[in-house]
Amino acid sequence: MSKFISLKTSLPGPKSQEIANKREKYVAKPMGSSLSPCYIAKGEGALITDVDGNQFIDLTGGWGCLAVGYSHKKVVTAVKDQIEKYLHTDFTAIPYKSFVELAKKLVELAPGSSPKTAAFFNSGSEAIENAVKIARAHTKRPAIIVFENAFHGRTLLTMTMTHKAMPYKYHFGPFASEIYRLPFPTPYHPTVKIEDFEKILINTVIPESVAAIVIEPIQGEGGFNVPVEGFLEYLRELTNKYGILLITDEIQSGMGRTGKFFAIENWNIEPDIICLAKSLAAGLPLSAVIAKKEITNSLPGGCIGGTYVGNPVACRAALEVIKIIEEENLLDRAVKIGKKLKERFLKMKDKYSLVGDVHGIGAMMAIELVKDRETKKPATEETAQIVQECVKNGVLVPNAGINKNLLRMLVSLEITDEQLDEALDVLEKAIAKFNEN
Ligand SMILES: Cc1ncc(COP(=O)(O)O)c(C=O)c1O
Repeated sequence: MSKFISLKTSLPGPKSQEIANKREKYVAKPMGSSLSPCYIAKGEGALITDVDGNQFIDLTGGWGCLAVGYSHKKVVTAVKDQIEKYLHTDFTAIPYKSFVELAKKLVELAPGSSPKTAAFFNSGSEAIENAVKIARAHTKRPAIIVFENAFHGRTLLTMTMTHKAMPYKYHFGPFASEIYRLPFPTPYHPTVKIEDFEKILINTVIPESVAAIVIEPIQGEGGFNVPVEGFLEYLRELTNKYGILLITDEIQSGMGRTGKFFAIENWNIEPDIICLAKSLAAGLPLSAVIAKKEITNSLPGGCIGGTYVGNPVACRAALEVIKIIEEENLLDRAVKIGKKLKERFLKMKDKYSLVGDVHGIGAMMAIELVKDRETKKPATEETAQIVQECVKNGVLVPNAGINKNLLRMLVSLEITDEQLDEALDVLEKAIAKFNEN
């Protein structure tokens, strides 16, 4: 018996279909299709209602932007208050307090004892792009190391840093130079031994020409891959040895999703630069680059920025998001959600051979679907079918992975246990349907 899912029309319903017809005519095709065939009217917590009155449980969380849900009252109140006062100034024209307060808060929360500063941008890509600019300017070195399966964005530089060619790099070259890709070993795909990594680095690029290693502590689009034990600690030592900066891309894994405010806090490591976005401002466009002060102080004033960066409405939302995470103990909630997900997924692994692996940290949990547990051949088609089956039954679940054979949970941390159980029942039925055995 569904308590939260309520499907009143066939999907898409007539009102959604009408908008879809207009979309077909007016929206640029390269923007792609949507996971949901239905158009949203309202969202609350982890639930959405579409324009035809159908209600869904959403596990996509706006691709990880909605840790505090679709329309948290405190965020809405702060945003309303701000928009009635002023929408924009450009911080370099007329400064405002929320920009400074947010920088202070993020710097205080960031791991490690080194003094730090924060800079704000609009998107995740922009944060990464600026982190790289800062690293190159500080070290006066050109090269950047990234990893297999990485996703860092879609601007020219970040698209180059992103691994997957299709669709992200579709005839969009020539690409940016001095980007070098190395293996990202995980327990399920141990592509390199830690002790061999330095040799591979040296054979790929002169370490003394490397400005930064940019790593997602837990890969997002790549499939919620957690590196093998000791790898991140090893990278910290290696970067220290060669004077390379360590940049963590926490755009998907940060803001409490793993049960720690910063994903890198799951390891005892102080990165040189941390990038945040997505859930930072509850879905409003805002990203942050938090860097050691000695690094940012070595650059001249005015060399980074942008017209819209650190918008006052987004800064107010972000301050509220951080308060909500603290007041509602959402870090603990992420751990509890993660425990529930993991237990349920491991049971599915026992029952269905399609489930090859379960991995992640906290609420950032995924299942990897394989055609054969021996060869680990990606079950790409089955994953797509499961996603569609879930949509048909009122649950929106995102896939992931370079072969699109993972189901990842990006659910709002505001989801209730009952809602999560209902969503997982739908998900399990879909997996059972497409499991061969
Ligand atoms: C880890 C990671 N880095 C960077 C980005 C790019 O962020 P944006 O899409 O806001 O440019 C994303 C987006 O999904 C991401 O997951």
